[in-house]
Amino acid sequence: MHIGLYATSLIFHVLAACAWIGGMLFMALVLVPGLRKLDDASLRRDLLHSTGLCFRLVGWVALAVLLTTGALNLIGRGMGPQLWVKAEFWRAGYGHLLAIKLLIFVCILAISVVHDWFIGLRANDAQVIAAGSPQALRLRRLAMWFGRFNLLLSIAMLVIGILLSRGIT
Ligand code: HEM
Repeated sequence: MHIGLYATSLIFHVLAACAWIGGMLFMALVLVPGLRKLDDASLRRDLLHSTGLCFRLVGWVALAVLLTTGALNLIGRGMGPQLWVKAEFWRAGYGHLLAIKLLIFVCILAISVVHDWFIGLRANDAQVIAAGSPQALRLRRLAMWFGRFNLLLSIAMLVIGILLSRGIT
């Protein structure tokens, strides 16, 4: 692969990781605490819902870019599809760490589907129907913990990515 294409892929990989992790950190550390300061419960709910929907799109685009550029990074480093089909590649060293990274990535995708399309939407509906009810609070808390766990897994991905990049396997 041309070095320019490899460099571009790396840049987009890191940019997508920034958008994904940065977006989650912003939601958890800035948006949610900021919204808690508002007295109007329906305004709080609507703001969280509309920003959540915006970030859902940004997040899924970032995850798609991470997967595509991740594969390109591998090809750029001379570890193309000819290696991916070999069991020995995944058993030790670089391939093994990459296998762990891919497994975590699948977990992130699964958690995101459940969080974005089921729990998050149901939590909002429950707030509309009966704001402050035990059911609404339970769903909100569940959505929050799914989000936090995804953030934790994504930071693990970032650490593994840095190790892979520097050949620390
Ligand atoms: C949430 C998802 C992901 C995050 C946050 C993430 C993050 C990162 C980061 C921060 C780096 C280090 C870049 C550097 O220091 O130069 C990296 C490198 C890397 N990532 Fe990912 N990544 C993700 C998903 C993936 C996926 C799905 C793949 C495979 C398809 C992948 C494959 C790689 C490879 C091969 C490298 C090494 C690049 C090189 O040195 O050539 N990543 N990743």
